[in-house]
Amino acid sequence: MTQEQLNESVEYLKKRGFEIPEIGIVLGTGLGQLIDNIENPIEAHYNHIPHFPLATVEFHTGKLIYGTIEGKKAVVMQGRFHLYEGYDFVDITYPIRVMHQLGVQKLFVSNAAGAVNLNYKKGDIMLIEDHINLQGGSPLAFKNVSQFGNRFVDMSEPYDVSMRSKMEKIAEKEGISLQKGVYASVVGPQLETKAEYRMIKTLGADAVGMSTVPEVIVANHLRLPIVAVSVLTDECDPDNLEPVNIQEILDIAAQTEPKMIKLFTELIKEI
Ligand code: HPA
Repeated sequence: MTQEQLNESVEYLKKRGFEIPEIGIVLGTGLGQLIDNIENPIEAHYNHIPHFPLATVEFHTGKLIYGTIEGKKAVVMQGRFHLYEGYDFVDITYPIRVMHQLGVQKLFVSNAAGAVNLNYKKGDIMLIEDHINLQGGSPLAFKNVSQFGNRFVDMSEPYDVSMRSKMEKIAEKEGISLQKGVYASVVGPQLETKAEYRMIKTLGADAVGMSTVPEVIVANHLRLPIVAVSVLTDECDPDNLEPVNIQEILDIAAQTEPKMIKLFTELIKEI
């Protein structure tokens, strides 16, 4: 990755009308309905944006959508890049750097995740307070990283405290029960074994998924405040583990998304 590449990606988007968005949003697997809330949308397919990672066949729908949400200019990533698709850490976080250079000042991130805290149920939403990186690498481990910011990025409070507390108040006001906890990221794409779920819980995680952490690390590198939520799609009880059903995971994500949309749009109003 070079600064010139970033400049070219950003120039392309500006020419298409992506004018200084304030909010960036990353939509997780099965979470696409939020785009119905975008007014005057302009789309850019990932495959058309210079230097964006080349999308895989199953991922041809991936696009950036620019428009207005609750009166604020926003850019939304419909679909993200995952390590399990064969991309590397720098690839999957490239769009975060592009959104930042476009002008984004606050980042909203969502994902579908499994509940390892057994007090949490599928269909719950969990506000991410902290994370554990179990992906075995870093999006900042590249040679010229210091051209883009500090190498040794502070991670003592990676999720913005003020946006978190605003989201908690919104949830209370809207009657949405909002869990809170630690998200552990794994590479995937295979789901976890019983022993792995036990380990992940023992390590201190409440939820596990295959994304988000690299994006959050890069957003911290860019000093971009983040709020992130997991939509809990399955219960990862090692003593009663049922075979994974991907269709059910997608269905639960879709059914739960309206609550997430409410939390996101109300928070956009407030900031
Ligand atoms: N593990 C990893 N990723 C996931 C899960 C899970 O149980 N559920 C949804 N995404």
